[in-house]
Amino acid sequence: MTAINFSDYLVQFDGDLKRLHGLMHKHLSADVTLIAEMEEEQYLTGGKRLRAIVALLAGRLCAVPAAAADQTAIAIEFIHTATLLHDDVVDEAPMRRHLPAVARVYGNAAAILAGDFLYSRASQLLAQMNNLLLLQRVADATNKLAEGELLQLINRGKPDMEEKTYYSIIRRKTANLFSVAAAAAAIISERDDAPLSRYGEKLGIAFQLVDDCLDYEGEGATLGKKIGADFSEGKVTLPIILMLARVDAAKRTQLLQEWQQQETADNFAQTIALLNETGALTAVREIAQQNVQEAIVALDCYPDSETKATLIALAKSSINRQN
Ligand code: IPE
Ligand code: IPE
Ligand code: MG
Ligand code: MG
Repeated sequence: MTAINFSDYLVQFDGDLKRLHGLMHKHLSADVTLIAEMEEEQYLTGGKRLRAIVALLAGRLCAVPAAAADQTAIAIEFIHTATLLHDDVVDEAPMRRHLPAVARVYGNAAAILAGDFLYSRASQLLAQMNNLLLLQRVADATNKLAEGELLQLINRGKPDMEEKTYYSIIRRKTANLFSVAAAAAAIISERDDAPLSRYGEKLGIAFQLVDDCLDYEGEGATLGKKIGADFSEGKVTLPIILMLARVDAAKRTQLLQEWQQQETADNFAQTIALLNETGALTAVREIAQQNVQEAIVALDCYPDSETKATLIALAKSSINRQN
């Protein structure tokens, strides 16, 4: 499968993103100076805005009025940004979107409260749309997201975590929001939302699989967040699960003991070497590729169009993203 570079792919949305940025700015106006300041510094409106792009493209595919697609897109993007503000508190992350994490600049309390502000503003925007089913579906996805983060938290530091637990975490924390971002347009236009829902779900799984690879093999300066964070947090992801299944029993016992004792720079380097030697990272990327393929197949029921081709290209190019 040939795929274009992801940053090159995203350039075509510059105009859309500028418009969405204006809308986000409007809806982030608050009588609270801290929110205004965070927004001014681009803490609340940055990022790739990929879920928003998915919502806009699905909106075009389903011929949803542009204003409704825009409102859904920014509500979902606010939810996503809220999860990141909270996630960085939980993960004690130093960097986000090429900037110091909000929690590092303003403190954990401010980051949590700003996240709450974004969640509740997203609910207001969705409630304004007077579509109960859409509201329910986004609420379900947001609740699953919280479940995913909790499930991940209780599995922290457990390198023997099963593959099925990993998938149940990433479906909840990442794939569900992608899924509803894609499905929203079908829900608004009262169509069967199953195909777009599946497209978003598979794209979201692939997206998180790639994120989990990038945490070991990415470039911090490009990614805009700290590499190696999963390892130092004891967060077990598929690359580690597959690597542990591929080394012999003695090596596995040794690694588990070392990680239990202390995670050091040395055993991080050793882990990266093993992830490469065992082919674990390549295997995870192959699984991501399969999910992309499934996302594309899910769109089969839609007639060929420029928008459908753009959704397909998005799924393909997201695999080779560098940030
Ligand atoms: C980061 O998502 C969190 C994950 C689900 C891996 P993005 O990589 O889409 O974050 P931004 O919005 O572009 O910063
Ligand atoms: C995704 O997981 C976070 C959410 C879906 C909230 P990660 O913890 O891997 O995301 P990053 O790497 O911090 O962006
Ligand atoms: Mg994190
Ligand atoms: Mg990550």
